[in-house]
Amino acid sequence: MPVTVVVGAQFGDEGKGKITDWLASRFRYVVRTGGGPNTGHTVHLAAGTAVLHQVSCGVLRPGVLGISGPGMVIDPFGYETELADLRNRHLLHGEPVLSERAHVLLPLHEIEDGWEESVRQGGSSSAGLGTTRRGIGPVYADRYGRWGLRIADLLRHEILASRLDLLYRKKAHLPGLPPIAELRSRLAEVGSRLAPYVRATEPILWGAIERSEPILLEGAQSVLLDIDFGTYPYVTSSHPTSAGALMGSGIPPQELDESVGVAKAYATRVGAGPFPTEVEGEMGEYLRKAGSERGATTGRPRRCGWLDLVMLRYATRLNGFTSLAITKVDVLGGLDEIPVCTQYVTPAGETLTDYPPPVAEDLAKVMPAYERFPSWPKFTERLKERLRREGAKALPAELRRFLTYLHEQTRVPVEFVSFGSAREDTLWMGRGAPSRMTDAVAPWSG
Ligand code: GDP
Ligand code: IMO
Ligand code: MG
Repeated sequence: MPVTVVVGAQFGDEGKGKITDWLASRFRYVVRTGGGPNTGHTVHLAAGTAVLHQVSCGVLRPGVLGISGPGMVIDPFGYETELADLRNRHLLHGEPVLSERAHVLLPLHEIEDGWEESVRQGGSSSAGLGTTRRGIGPVYADRYGRWGLRIADLLRHEILASRLDLLYRKKAHLPGLPPIAELRSRLAEVGSRLAPYVRATEPILWGAIERSEPILLEGAQSVLLDIDFGTYPYVTSSHPTSAGALMGSGIPPQELDESVGVAKAYATRVGAGPFPTEVEGEMGEYLRKAGSERGATTGRPRRCGWLDLVMLRYATRLNGFTSLAITKVDVLGGLDEIPVCTQYVTPAGETLTDYPPPVAEDLAKVMPAYERFPSWPKFTERLKERLRREGAKALPAELRRFLTYLHEQTRVPVEFVSFGSAREDTLWMGRGAPSRMTDAVAPWSG
């Protein structure tokens, strides 16, 4: 029965939060499946802007369970602050739920992340990885090394004490660790405050599957940041793929029905690492400004570039996309032309169309080959209004051709087009879609 996953198809920040929020009105369960406070999912609502880091976008919708799933790494103090902020600003309408199996991200993981970055900066790779410094690498390393502390442990004080003690022995080399007794009691306190949200989330989802209720998995990060399939080592430490989302929620693979790949009509990246279609200079600055490209978590300026079909085809194969959501088409309106990278040429003269080289240093040396498209007109308020009113038939012809081209090149239909940051600036053109979005009922809503 219908499980839908939303996956980032580029380097993160594609607009997954916005697409998840749009879809969420048709689901009762929305589940974050990986990552932690490295995420920033922005949703612009009439009542205010929500930037969600650890809480699922589902909580913005009444009647929806917004689950932070077992695949996540949770800073419990940050989670609490985020909930309080959403509540204070009257944006919390759904029910927040926290998996008892999610791992606990501690202040010492943040210290370790900073320390590891400084080691890398002193080495041959002088820029480091450019992590968010939220402790993601170290907490996943402890998880797989079996040193970790989980949310359930916060509610069991003896177990909390013994796991923390072990972790402190392992981390004794780190500078500036907070006194263990103080951290232990703060963790026990935050555990008891969060206890009302802590649940066994897998049985909730299995029950939903048995009752044929649809589930939406909210991917964070993106395929190209995947620990195995991304641009290693310039990646995050989780699996932001559709398979990773199933592992990070406890849902069996055969239940997955739809996989929505989210990509900007161009590309951005935060942090270090190869980015073959990056544009610097004036045009890069134009995209950064027009797209307000600044990290939602760290505030760092995002590197900007053109849409990369080699990567999009690769992402499609890895995730089995059944549809694409193309976002930020408004940002490119009014340009002279819109380049799209169709293939890479390696220094040895080889052409690559759907599989990037596995070694980051080799990927950094490929030459992207571009096809150039005529631009569509500027997205004036008038055009946006027509799109909201009339739906897909108001799409400019040049943009239609661009979207058809993406369908042909990836063999995946473009079912969502996002032309602004507001909730209503989303067109859905999927199977059975009515021409007016306000009448839309998703095919998977049963
Ligand atoms: P996520 O991490 O994938 O959820 O993306 P972020 O929230 O980090 O970054 C996407 C940014 O683009 C946010 O500020 C969104 O509000 C904004 N955004 C999303 N879709 C559109 C769009 O179609 N047009 C414009 N102009 N902004 C958009
Ligand atoms: P959302 O869900 C963009 C990037 C960091 C860095 C690399 C490793 O908002 O799309 P980490 O702190 O995870 O160890 O950093 O991964 N990164 C993201 N970039 N969006 C994200 O999340 C990201 N999460 C991690 O910038 O390059
Ligand atoms: Mg983001």
